[in-house]
Amino acid sequence: MTKKILKALAGEKQEVPPIWMMRQAGRYLPEYRETRAQAGDFLSLCYNSDLAAEVTLQPIRRYGFDAAILFADILLLPQALGADLWFVTGEGPRLSTLQTKLDFENLRKPEEINETLAPIYETVKILSKELPRETTLIGFAGAPWTVATYMVAGRGTPDQAPAHLLKNKNPELFDDLINLLIEGTIEYLSHQIIAGAEVVKIFDSWAGSLKGNDFDKYAVEPCKKIISALKVKHPHIPIIAFPRQASNRYIGFSKQVGSDCIALDESVSAEWISQNIQVDGCVQGNLASSHMVSGGNALVDETKRIVKALSNGPHIFNLGHGITPEADPQNVQIMIDTIRTAE
Ligand code: CP3
Repeated sequence: MTKKILKALAGEKQEVPPIWMMRQAGRYLPEYRETRAQAGDFLSLCYNSDLAAEVTLQPIRRYGFDAAILFADILLLPQALGADLWFVTGEGPRLSTLQTKLDFENLRKPEEINETLAPIYETVKILSKELPRETTLIGFAGAPWTVATYMVAGRGTPDQAPAHLLKNKNPELFDDLINLLIEGTIEYLSHQIIAGAEVVKIFDSWAGSLKGNDFDKYAVEPCKKIISALKVKHPHIPIIAFPRQASNRYIGFSKQVGSDCIALDESVSAEWISQNIQVDGCVQGNLASSHMVSGGNALVDETKRIVKALSNGPHIFNLGHGITPEADPQNVQIMIDTIRTAE
């Protein structure tokens, strides 16, 4: 039996698309909040392999998703490289900032990350034993540009201005950082694969703020380098790329970087995706996560519309971005029932 997600990633069109959701293990679920409280806080949860495996499994038990995504975070890599990292409740991540050559030189080497990240690889090992046979295990990392935006600013920023500033003012330093993150990401994803991840996804959440040549240099090139290195080491592992908000740069992206699937946010229509992107292979995503809060007919209609528009080629149903804490767990079930019983 080939798993549904792997079939889609191999380019197979299916009557009922496989389903998973970004941030499916998260605060909208009462069982997640309980396990996080047991761990103490979010980062302690990430580094507690048994509890991280438990929260990864929770949405699989509740909904029977076709894929489980490792419970971890894209900012664990900068932490393993030596950045300070903490989370402010209700606000988000905070890191030590990277502004100077000295800050950069104080970071560790890519091959030195694995001691810190060992508990994450252990979570993957536990999951590959405990997941149901039909469920695919997805590992992940942030793309270099997105991770760099947090490292430079020390926090999330609406327009990624601090990273743009450093890139323009001190391109040499910025390129050193991007190259370190490329090597670190190859190392991190490769170890997740060795531990049992069957697919990996690269999250470039802030790719949309890169324009023109910058998009080629900082979104396409790093992703291409990471994928080609992984394909040499692990030729049979499918890779999903997510250059969020890339708009017309979504066109041809998967081919340019060598990914097996491209994830799309909700800023483009399913019909446009079918015509412009799915012609190149598997697509994933697109339902606005706000429907998980508002529910009702709009949720059902939009879910059906996406399934129908993408029914002519390989498709993995997902949201356009992560599910939010305000989402109603019941709406997730409605979405799944709509997909699995759609005529
Ligand atoms: O279920 C899953 O999708 C797997 C786990 C996962 C998390 N973060 C857990 C998490 C994944 C794949 C991520 C990726 C991630 N982390 C991204 C890329 C995807 C995206 O959302 O654009 C980014 C930018 C981060 C960095 C990050 N982590 C931010 C900005 C925040 C704060 C914002 C927020 O949603 O609170 C986090 C925290 C975080 N990562 C939570 C979870 C479940 C919430 C923390 C909590 O439980 O308090």
